[in-house]
Amino acid sequence: MRIVVAGGTGVVGREIVAAARERGHEAAGMSRTTGADLQTGEGVAAALRDAEVVIDAVSVATMDAEASTRFFRRSAETLIGAARQSGVRHVVALSIVGVDRNPHGYYAGKVAQEAAYQAGDAPFTIVRATQFHEFAGQVAQQARFGPLQLAPRARVQPIAARAVAEHLVTVAEGGAVGRGTDIAGPREEELSEMIRAWRHHRGERRPVFAVSLPGAQMRGMRRGLALPDANAQMLGPSFEQWLSAQPISAGRAGR
Ligand SMILES: NC(=O)c1ccc[n+]([C@@H]2O[C@H](COP(=O)([O-])OP(=O)(O)OC[C@H]3O[C@@H](n4cnc5c(N)ncnc54)[C@H](OP(=O)(O)O)[C@@H]3O)[C@@H](O)[C@H]2O)c1
Repeated sequence: MRIVVAGGTGVVGREIVAAARERGHEAAGMSRTTGADLQTGEGVAAALRDAEVVIDAVSVATMDAEASTRFFRRSAETLIGAARQSGVRHVVALSIVGVDRNPHGYYAGKVAQEAAYQAGDAPFTIVRATQFHEFAGQVAQQARFGPLQLAPRARVQPIAARAVAEHLVTVAEGGAVGRGTDIAGPREEELSEMIRAWRHHRGERRPVFAVSLPGAQMRGMRRGLALPDANAQMLGPSFEQWLSAQPISAGRAGR
């Protein structure tokens, strides 16, 4: 079947496109890079032509609740409208475990995104996942200031983006269920230690400073509000197994 992945150039979006193709689907990414903008609507109808399923994996780099809410609400509404118009039978939206327990900062936007799907008129499934193993590198890059590497503290139970992608393709193959099962990795980890290990793996030896970032979202994550509950489905590999399989590419010894 034809699956369009909104955010198909992103960390998990790329994995979804690859996983869908491996399963024999015709998969295409859709984002500003491919000429479709979910904020303005430009190019979106053309991108969804003949699509049976759409997977929403778009994101915005902000910790500001208002900016995040604006982005996710508008993106979801654009996608729902275009999906209805082009006869898409199922929209699968990727959200994050615990956002409603911690609806601050970036997560405020995820709550608005979920609400848009609940209120919309397209058949949907929302899948909440915990932070990706790749999240360690994403956060490290944002928390690096010249030679200074900060590592925010947070309790997480991370999952490989590839495992998320494979699960989303399975969900896409089925029917819309509204709120789907949450997914998480196999073990709780401390985010600052993940960042340390990620840097070490890349041969970067300068010290890493663990910090408690201000703001309600990060405070909530330190209190464990992003951890999965007992009903979540656990999917390997662990962060350690995943990291040991990553190529040592971008780092330079001594940095
Ligand atoms: N990272 C995590 O640990 C984590 C954990 C659980 C769930 N999630 C969720 O997974 C989703 C993807 O996260 P990610 O970390 O993979 O994101 P990412 O790497 O930052 O990628 C974001 C994607 O969104 C696209 N995009 C941004 N603005 C757009 C616009 N106006 N119109 C169309 N596409 C746009 C980007 O492509 P262009 O730049 O080409 O437009 C890119 O493909 C998010 O919903 C996030 O909340 C993330």
